[in-house]
Amino acid sequence: MRQHLLAPSLLAADFSRLADEINMVNQSEADWFHLDVMDGRFVPNITFGMFITEAINKLATKPLDVHLMIVEPEKYIESFRRAGADIITVHYEACTHLHRTLQLIKLTGAKAGVALNPHTPVSLLEDCLEEIDLVCLMSVNPGFGGQKFIPQTYDKIRKLRQLIAKHSADIQIEIDGGVGLDNLEQLIYAGADVLVAGSSVFGANSPIERIAALKQTGIQ
Ligand code: DX5
Ligand code: ZN
Repeated sequence: MRQHLLAPSLLAADFSRLADEINMVNQSEADWFHLDVMDGRFVPNITFGMFITEAINKLATKPLDVHLMIVEPEKYIESFRRAGADIITVHYEACTHLHRTLQLIKLTGAKAGVALNPHTPVSLLEDCLEEIDLVCLMSVNPGFGGQKFIPQTYDKIRKLRQLIAKHSADIQIEIDGGVGLDNLEQLIYAGADVLVAGSSVFGANSPIERIAALKQTGIQ
């Protein structure tokens, strides 16, 4: 099996000790920071925006994977790029002109990602695969950490793998929501490249050891 990437989601971190949590991820085997931006409109929860993203960027030594769960994301692409985002992911369901928004992300120099809610089929991406660097399959309904993984995701990963192969596209598949030691191996086996983990990492007694375990699982 190939080596997968691990992106701890800071949503589950203790924000009263944010600098310590960021340093822990810096020192760990994790690959990216996953940042969940929520606006209280696209999802029924509010987190943080570019101001906190910029503060995180000052301490983080690994790429920032910014997941925008907001309406009209095109208005804020440049601000998040300036704040330090390396990968900017917008929701398919929040973009009327997805193709144009993906081009805008690329123009800023960031990698362009598209997230799909659990009810959105992967086939809807077929006509803009060339503009996409990463597809984030939501394996929970977005808005909150600590939810139960939706098993239908395995099937979506396999379908997306086929679509990518058919078009010889260069796209990473990321899985977000309910990822942990119990399902990570199966997700990699189905074709996932990047695993986001929030509560599994920050809810562990030793988050740095949990990250190491999540990196080891699935390697043969
Ligand atoms: C959910 C977020 C996820 C979340 C994952 O809306 O996009 O990134 O933080 O958290 P866990 O790993 O706890 O499901
Ligand atoms: Zn996320």
